[in-house]
Amino acid sequence: MTGSSVRGGVTVFEPPIDHRATIPAIATYDAMYRESVANPEAFWREQARAFHWYVEPTQILDWSPPHAKWFEDGTTNLSVNCVDRHVTAGHGNRAALIWEGEPGEVRTLTYGQLLTEVERAANALVTLGVSRGDRVGIYLGMVPEAAVAMLACARIGAVHTVIFGGFASDALADRLNDASAKVVVTQDGAYRRTAIVPLKDNVDKALERCPSVQHVLVVRRTLQPIAMRAGRDREWKDALASAKPRCAPAELPAEHPLFILYTSGTTGKPKGVLHTTGGYMVGTSVTAKHVFDLRPEDVYFCTADVGWITGHSYVVYGPLANGATVLMYEGAPNTPNEGRIWDLVERHRVTILYTAPTAIRAFVRWGDQHPAARDLGSLRLLGSVGEPINPEAWLWYRRVIGHDRCPIVDTWWQTETGAIMISPLPYATPTKPGSCSKPMFGVVPRIVREDGTTADANESGLLVIDQPWPSMLRTVWGDDARYRETYFGRFEGVYFTGDGARCDEDGYFWVVGRVDDVLNVAGHRLGTAEIESALVSHRDVAEAAAVGRPDDLKGTAVVVFVTLKGGVEPTDALRVALLDHVAAEIGKFARPDAIRFAPALPKTRSGKIVRRLLKDIAAGRAISGDVTTLEDASILEALAKDD
Ligand code: WT7
Repeated sequence: MTGSSVRGGVTVFEPPIDHRATIPAIATYDAMYRESVANPEAFWREQARAFHWYVEPTQILDWSPPHAKWFEDGTTNLSVNCVDRHVTAGHGNRAALIWEGEPGEVRTLTYGQLLTEVERAANALVTLGVSRGDRVGIYLGMVPEAAVAMLACARIGAVHTVIFGGFASDALADRLNDASAKVVVTQDGAYRRTAIVPLKDNVDKALERCPSVQHVLVVRRTLQPIAMRAGRDREWKDALASAKPRCAPAELPAEHPLFILYTSGTTGKPKGVLHTTGGYMVGTSVTAKHVFDLRPEDVYFCTADVGWITGHSYVVYGPLANGATVLMYEGAPNTPNEGRIWDLVERHRVTILYTAPTAIRAFVRWGDQHPAARDLGSLRLLGSVGEPINPEAWLWYRRVIGHDRCPIVDTWWQTETGAIMISPLPYATPTKPGSCSKPMFGVVPRIVREDGTTADANESGLLVIDQPWPSMLRTVWGDDARYRETYFGRFEGVYFTGDGARCDEDGYFWVVGRVDDVLNVAGHRLGTAEIESALVSHRDVAEAAAVGRPDDLKGTAVVVFVTLKGGVEPTDALRVALLDHVAAEIGKFARPDAIRFAPALPKTRSGKIVRRLLKDIAAGRAISGDVTTLEDASILEALAKDD
């Protein structure tokens, strides 16, 4: 049990003392943080020394707002830093990935075996015509091949774009086309709650309109019959078996593109967030090292899917760059029962668990008997990511899972930031439930008012980041204007996060959530515009508006208001058909939670939908604020009625 005290109505938990920790005291953090922001180039030059470079960088930062280049004259290879280097150091027999399938089988890849796989996969890609800078789509479930494929791309300088396996074929096609992918790596099917998600079928459908894709590599997993198109499709196993065993890594400039990851923004078109090699490597690795205090004997389990940024930075690149042992789990946390996650912890002696508040709230709901029936004594550190964590869930996590001895790191960051930006350090930072606490090295967050002036302590405002950092996104793929406008357009030269937050008198940050038209649903980012455009693509829909509503489990639930075309009846069957339509267009995870038919939507006289009113109605709240600017105030009554 570690000490706690109450300050200003908030419980503050002291971190446990551990002298082996990478940052064992808050004074160490303070000194390093001060140095990192006072002399960022010296600080990052020093951090970069820990990595393998062909040519050590001497130019650390070139910042011409809004574009940053990090370690520009250095050359490196990220697969070498994540794999070869540990084998060379004598750790070839250390487990890199321990994988457990949903049906229960376990596969371990040592660093030595991972290297073999990565080299063969890299050669297989080369054989299919992939060269430096080409884009490779990766549409896989949580199988070791996902990490292998990513590292294989990194090895030859190909740019991967991982597309979450929950996306439907249309969403997949849009992303493959935006990236002009040349090759797609997929699998026959993915297990999810014992059912099979037909990934290869989805790829086949998507490729009907993806002219850039020349080849498909297919991992066999679920073994159901699939169509294999001769000349285009090849089995992963065969391609690797016939590939040469050794693959010399490409010596790449630090700013060579590493991956594109699509994320939702405020328009219907997803943004291809571009990350590059050197800065991303240093940023993810240094944060993984200190936030998770990684040690050789740790078994580190991050529950995120590789299709999202957390899977990229903290399942694959960050932990492997540190030579850690990563547990990767294929399936659902409640298959075959609601104790599965705790079985995994017990069976593999997990020491570090990193998951999302939405999952923690589900664990709470499933009941304490599940964790209570397992031995969780191996755990020493708990993490949270993806959305604000409510203090009740935080305290449950600490007590029921951490047995009051494990520190909790609530890590705030984004797809765009690449790496953790604000987080406690487990053995240094006193924690306050619900606060992601203090900035990581080199990160300068600030709360501003709408006019850009700095907010006072405890005053709510917008979260911005003042200085560039190594793992920041470099642009939006194919749309630099959107990059400038979205992130640097609101406040000149300053990165705007899209989040609302406050900073308290101790310098602790409290992030409330998105202030733009982006919803954070069960830790997945969804654009209201994407949902709306899926709805209006249905022949019966005239107009649609999607808003978020607070939800005990998902954080935010999606409620859509729909106006039907003239003559169409608002039936229950149509309700279901429209929800299914969104699921079919984007993916099941985007299926709205509720749909309300409305004769019209509330608009200003200039025709803009007034979302703030819809949010009140969706949440069942009294309508707050001004309604006098509405074009037709009588429709509010009609809206409130349909439930
Ligand atoms: C948005 C980014 C970062 C990886 C997973 C999500 C919200 C994320 C926290 C946190 C409060 C958080 C923010 C952010 N968010 N972590 N610890 N506390 N909010 O990545 O899909 O890019 O979403 O997630 O709103 O802007 P993402």
